[in-house]
Amino acid sequence: MTYLSHSNRAKIELHLHLEGAAPPAFIRGLAKEKHLDISGIFDAEGNYKYTDFWDFLRVYEAATAALKTPQDYHRLTLAVLEESAKSGVVYTEAFISPDFCGGREVGAWREYLHAIREAAEIAEKTMGITLRGIVTPIRHFGPAKARETALCAAETAGDWIVGLGIGGDEKSGHLADFRWSFDCAREAGLRLTAHAGEWGGPDSVRSAIADLDVERIGHGVRAIEDLALVDEIAEKGVVLEVCPGSNVALGLYPSIRQHPIAELHKRGVKVTVSTDDPPFFYTNMQKEYQDLYDAFDWDDAFFDQMARDTLDAAFCDADTKIRLKKTLEQANA
Ligand code: ADE
Ligand code: ZN
Repeated sequence: MTYLSHSNRAKIELHLHLEGAAPPAFIRGLAKEKHLDISGIFDAEGNYKYTDFWDFLRVYEAATAALKTPQDYHRLTLAVLEESAKSGVVYTEAFISPDFCGGREVGAWREYLHAIREAAEIAEKTMGITLRGIVTPIRHFGPAKARETALCAAETAGDWIVGLGIGGDEKSGHLADFRWSFDCAREAGLRLTAHAGEWGGPDSVRSAIADLDVERIGHGVRAIEDLALVDEIAEKGVVLEVCPGSNVALGLYPSIRQHPIAELHKRGVKVTVSTDDPPFFYTNMQKEYQDLYDAFDWDDAFFDQMARDTLDAAFCDADTKIRLKKTLEQANA
């Protein structure tokens, strides 16, 4: 039997922002082709440069400005999936925003989506990685734009666009203001997730569950500040898309050892592991697994269980899950 280190396992990732996964050299190359000056967002080594979460959002949006056409998103998708596949990822769900892909106009959104899906098909054939999309309203763009985004999501809901999940500045507005968008997506058959409990505390997580009725939460880690809420999350089976490296890089916790993922798991919460925006946080899935192994000494059985829980929580259809289950079993035997 081949020994597989924890970091070399086949992995499922549920929380990855397509633009946030853009390698900085890729964005620099695009900007050069288009004669755009975005040099201010990089440091001397060519990495993304930001000071805190809100500055990160600014840099993220500035980098995204280099992505102007469906063909750019086709190339982005290939570049991102190549990196993920190198890290052992066999299935990933990416947040994709109609705000950046055609300005929330349904016809334009369809063209971007077509280009992204074509790239995903190539990656599936050549790299063995499967991609599905979660349409993403951006919270600080406000509820009116989120409604247009939800309509794009509803128009393209199916076996590839599988969910709706709000991201952006958690301090901006209230999640309840986005209920119409979430209801619209739910009625179109989409599964639901929301960023909460990253920059907002337990009340923000409560609101995601009570006001939007989501089945997964992006981050959600600050639920740990209210143990009654942790019990509720565990009881309801709400799944947390935990991104430990992102939380440490953005200063939410000083180190992986002090991150609450292990405590949440001990208290019965279904935790999964993702990278969020890997190049921004100097991470990838291999590093996330290795860092967790080093910090908490989780054994093979733990990682196997987490892989099964993660696949369970994925928004793709049953046939895809059966295929992926076999892939995981074979790769991690
Ligand atoms: N968009 C990209 N990364 C994000 C994060 N960590 N939180 C909220 N919105 C995001
Ligand atoms: Zn995120």
